[in-house]
Amino acid sequence: MKILVVGGGGREHAIVWKLAQSPLATEIYCAPGNAGIAQLADCVNIAAEDIDSLLDFALAENIELTVVGPEAPLALGIVDKFTAAGLKIFGPSQAAALIEGSKELAKQIMTKYGIPTAKYRSFADKEAALAYVREQGAPIVVKADGLAAGKGVVVAETLPQAEQAVEDMLSGNAFGAAGAKVVIEEYLTGEEVSVLAFTDGYTVLPMVSAQDHKRAFDGDKGPNTGGMGAYSPAPVYTPEMAETVLRDVLQPAVDGLRAEGRLYKGVLYAGLMVTPDGVKVLEFNARFGDPETQAVLARLQSDLVEIMLAVVEGRLAEKTLAWYDDAAVCVVIASGGYPGHYAKGQEITGLDDDMPDTYVFHAGTAYAGPKIVANGGRVLGVTARGADIRQAIERAYARADKISYAGCFCRRDIGHRALERIEK
Ligand code: AMP
Ligand code: GLY
Repeated sequence: MKILVVGGGGREHAIVWKLAQSPLATEIYCAPGNAGIAQLADCVNIAAEDIDSLLDFALAENIELTVVGPEAPLALGIVDKFTAAGLKIFGPSQAAALIEGSKELAKQIMTKYGIPTAKYRSFADKEAALAYVREQGAPIVVKADGLAAGKGVVVAETLPQAEQAVEDMLSGNAFGAAGAKVVIEEYLTGEEVSVLAFTDGYTVLPMVSAQDHKRAFDGDKGPNTGGMGAYSPAPVYTPEMAETVLRDVLQPAVDGLRAEGRLYKGVLYAGLMVTPDGVKVLEFNARFGDPETQAVLARLQSDLVEIMLAVVEGRLAEKTLAWYDDAAVCVVIASGGYPGHYAKGQEITGLDDDMPDTYVFHAGTAYAGPKIVANGGRVLGVTARGADIRQAIERAYARADKISYAGCFCRRDIGHRALERIEK
């Protein structure tokens, strides 16, 4: 079977790596891919948002399954266009992907179908929004309604910060159309967990839990990033919680979306907060998480091609997921300056130093002649499995420490919450 993966980050490298293990996968293409993906797939120089060119390519090459990594092409309707052309594609339709693309829609669905989440109100009018934050007081959370590349959420510790966020989103053009509305929501405390699930719109098969590390520096300090590392499982997430979340969050979300005429196929990602009053939803994403996917797919035993086909063909009820008991950890190596300005083009050394049960997923890399060079802010996701979280952490850092390029850095404390919980 000829497969096309859309995207070119660490998440897509992990997806390609897992698909490539399937006996069903004869040829894998990736658009646009990166230098690591190029070792497993034929990279095609088409941007993930260039849907017309992707469709032309898929038709010309007789692609039998397309897998979409990032949210942007989903929001642009790639699944609808491929499906209309008679092609099989893994991911939600444009209408279903709006669970990520509109925070207001996500909140409406959660409220209507009784899914636990922070109390909220949404506003298009700035004065009304300001009056509401003053009445509620800080801390409070202000979110741009639309897709804002991970920058649309302000967790305001003080009232002036909250007012500023409302001003920025509803009067400035800081977020363009994404900021035409805001969701203002109750501040929740607790530990965060990411739970991804496969669904064909009816059956929901949750994956093992994961936790990512959003801040740039050790001790969860510094600016927010796209994710500096992840691990799986998250010990805060007990088997009882997993049962409750399937029953009270994932299944009602999928059933609710279907009832609203938004049949959801693909991966549904629930960003959860384990609060003192139980697990609540922070957000839904319409895709695999990055870098959670690198840790989660490292633990998947089942054939990913078979699962994805069952999702697309609406027969997920026939399937179960098998997992390795091992823990997995992904340590991101980033370029100096990230998430602000950073250099590109530095040669990366140490990539060939293979070690058992470790995988180096590339995020922002490119070939410069025969050399592999840094080509982004987050450059590599060094991933390892181990009998427990401690061993996985040791292995991931042992491998990461062999890799280097000018200005690179990584957090040294990926998995610290899991270790603290185990030590207690
Ligand atoms: P989101 O994109 O909605 O997940 O928000 C990004 C991040 O903001 C989350 O991962 C949390 O760390 C934080 N956040 C979002 N909503 C809340 C909330 N209601 N209370 C506290 N923190 C939040
Ligand atoms: N790791 C967070 C995300 O993928 O949205």
